[in-house]
Amino acid sequence: MVLSSSSTSTVEIAAAAANQAATQAADLPLVHRPRRLRRTEGLRRLVRETRLTVDDLIYPMFVMEGSGQRQEVPSMPGCFRYSLDLLLEELQEVVGLGLGAIALFPLIPDHQKDNAGTESYNPTGLIPQSVRAIKQAFSQLLVITDVALDPYSSMGHDGIVENGEILNDETVTVLVKQALAHAEAGADMVAPSDMMDGRIGAIRQALDAEGWINVGILAYSAKYASAYYGSFRDALESAPKFGDKKTYQMNPANAAEALKEVDLDIAEGADIVMVKPALAYLDIICRIKQHTNLPVAAYNVSGEYAMVKAAAAQGWIDEKTVMLETLTSIKRAGADVILTYFAKDVARALESKF
Ligand code: PBG
Repeated sequence: MVLSSSSTSTVEIAAAAANQAATQAADLPLVHRPRRLRRTEGLRRLVRETRLTVDDLIYPMFVMEGSGQRQEVPSMPGCFRYSLDLLLEELQEVVGLGLGAIALFPLIPDHQKDNAGTESYNPTGLIPQSVRAIKQAFSQLLVITDVALDPYSSMGHDGIVENGEILNDETVTVLVKQALAHAEAGADMVAPSDMMDGRIGAIRQALDAEGWINVGILAYSAKYASAYYGSFRDALESAPKFGDKKTYQMNPANAAEALKEVDLDIAEGADIVMVKPALAYLDIICRIKQHTNLPVAAYNVSGEYAMVKAAAAQGWIDEKTVMLETLTSIKRAGADVILTYFAKDVARALESKF
């Protein structure tokens, strides 16, 4: 009885308040009409709060061995694996569109893969070779290289595997060698995407010790164990051979832990901190932006790209509008920098002043 009478009175109070508000609203002149500022395209442009530009974007690209190779990734229409010669041709277009930064990922042939990811620090391997050629042809283009073992691992993991476990410190030793090989080849920044503990500090120390004080670190700080990476693993043939990545990538249920990871990476010397994926983690981007003065990056990952492409191909959504809305939301959430496979499409859309 007590419960039902108290809940009735709560409902009554709420109803009375609503009535009163309605009466007041009817009596008062409408001083504020937010629609005034939405009336014309000119007004909407004037008061727009978030603006995407090509300056914000990093274009992830896949490179493979050989020559004359250009293979579309089946689950990522419009994204290709290029051999270096054709990658350089493609970069003419990328740079021509005004894009200023790329993130490079390698497709490594099976015979070069092993558990220790030895090929990852080969100074004349695919990535160092590609970085050299790219920087020679496009000295102004920012070249960011991914530091992780998974493309090179016969296990498809981001670290060395022993008895079904991913070894942390042994892996960091290899990541350091990989980062040094990339720096030596001319990478502007290295981007550790592996989520081993302590790797940012170890890489920063080694880069400095070798004189690479100007090579930056874009840290994948809050990288989640996400099902949105599926298409990327298709592109690099890098899916884990057993298990999952939950012992090193973060639990999607956690937010406070993202701040902890960010704090550690900043303390260890990260120049930019990243959240990955982006769309299901807009709250994390927002929190991190409020938490740090470092630039915040977000990775609009392969699965996010594939979903838009697939629905658009069915005619279920308008691709260009959804793409711009999505990327604008990532920027609005607080991302200063966005890695996206849509980078070329965005550049074209912005050129045409959509
Ligand atoms: C691996 C790595 C992944 C991505 C970037 N670096 C996949 C993974 O962690 O399994 C995913 C990028 C994407 O999905 O677009 N170190």
